[in-house]
Amino acid sequence: MSSVIVLGAQWGDEGKGKIVDYLTQKAKAVVRYSGGSNAGHTVVVNDIAYKLRLLPSGVLFEDKINVLGNGVVINPGVFLKEIEGMKEKGIKCDNLVISDRAHVVLPYHQRLDELQEAALGENKIGTTKNGIGPCYMDKVARVGIRMCDLMEPETFAKKLKVNVEAKNAIITKLYGGEPFDYEAILEEYLGYAEKLRPFVTDTGVVLDEIFAEGQNVLFEGAQATFLDVDHGTYPYVTSSNPTAGNACTGSGVGPRFIDHVVGVVKAYTTRVGEGPFATELLDTDGPGHHIREAGHEYGTVTGRPRRCGWLDAFMLKYSARLNSLDYLAITRLDILDKMPVIKMCVGYELNGQPIKNIPASLNILANVTPIYEEFEGWMTDISGIREYDKLPEKTKKYLERLSEVAGVPLGIVSVGPNREQTIVLKELL
Ligand code: GDP
Ligand code: IMO
Ligand code: MG
Repeated sequence: MSSVIVLGAQWGDEGKGKIVDYLTQKAKAVVRYSGGSNAGHTVVVNDIAYKLRLLPSGVLFEDKINVLGNGVVINPGVFLKEIEGMKEKGIKCDNLVISDRAHVVLPYHQRLDELQEAALGENKIGTTKNGIGPCYMDKVARVGIRMCDLMEPETFAKKLKVNVEAKNAIITKLYGGEPFDYEAILEEYLGYAEKLRPFVTDTGVVLDEIFAEGQNVLFEGAQATFLDVDHGTYPYVTSSNPTAGNACTGSGVGPRFIDHVVGVVKAYTTRVGEGPFATELLDTDGPGHHIREAGHEYGTVTGRPRRCGWLDAFMLKYSARLNSLDYLAITRLDILDKMPVIKMCVGYELNGQPIKNIPASLNILANVTPIYEEFEGWMTDISGIREYDKLPEKTKKYLERLSEVAGVPLGIVSVGPNREQTIVLKELL
């Protein structure tokens, strides 16, 4: 038995879906433990792209069990639509289970997300407006509605009533918005409840049984380390914990079951939404522009252009410590194929002095200067290479320096979106 957490080491969209799909070949189950439909994980098989938001990236395999753990927040409408879309592409989605302890995203969460963002004005976070923050707010405030509540019509009706009244007061009095109709939400969600019922169970127990059989399990991170509500660039973060510790809490398994933690790292850096980004490239026809266009760096969920910049290996050192990363999976290396010069940030300076750690204060972070090292680009197509030794020397030099600064060995190098465009240095399962 082996279990591996696969999580984002930067600001999201590192290619977690691709790496999870690749590793799923040798696993029995894939578990999402945090986030919700704010995630957009793309898996490409035989040139067909599957865009996943709530479904774990193991769904393309019919014989794997896909788990939505208690730490995930679930919008039933989005979930059911996603399944429909997959079925249209011939993917059955039969082996799917949802935690009875997972929280439910309701229409007022989405509305509050929009209203809160609008009220923040130029200080907005740049959320995906999926209602994720307000749903986790309710969870922590102990007024949230869980899947087990939705399965009991009377309990759901009671909890919904209290919530709609409370949220309508905020929406109308604080924001001057239109109130929600309790009956309409009740009817819509009781309809969803019957469709979801076959999936809802105690997923902690399901996982325990899979472990007892000695099977391999993958934990699929959503969002990423620097979007973590505790450890990221707060407040420009999501409202959950994508970091490794939450793989246990968010799925109901103990830490003894975790064998490896893999940090997925894009070969450069991107970020969607607001917040600090030390290595951001703001040019309109230089390397930043080149990365965005060569990499089609536009959000899967929102279509927003992603902010692009050089790889920040100093950030990776922080990710490595926080998550106990034992291997790195480097993705999208092929996007740098046509860059004559590539830079990598290996540390930060503050007032001319190198600093040891990533500062918590955004005021300090806004004043750091990245320390760059420059690399000669390899200027050749690497997307067909399947063995590490066959990569150009210049590519290996870049990878090895990255690994050295992060302090974590390379486990996987991805050179294209397709499942087979993967170079394995360390078999994890
Ligand atoms: P995630 O949210 O971390 O799963 O990442 P996204 O799916 O949002 O964004 C990653 C994008 O890169 C997707 O379109 C993937 O299909 C694609 N991708 C993953 N690995 C590679 C790679 O090595 N090379 C290229 N060119 N694309 C990749
Ligand atoms: P995956 O799993 C990139 C960002 C949003 C915003 C902040 C808060 O595909 O890597 P939220 O809607 O969560 O309240 O938004 O977090 N964000 C992501 N950025 N990839 C994601 O997911 C993200 N999920 C949320 O852009 O800055
Ligand atoms: Mg994504």
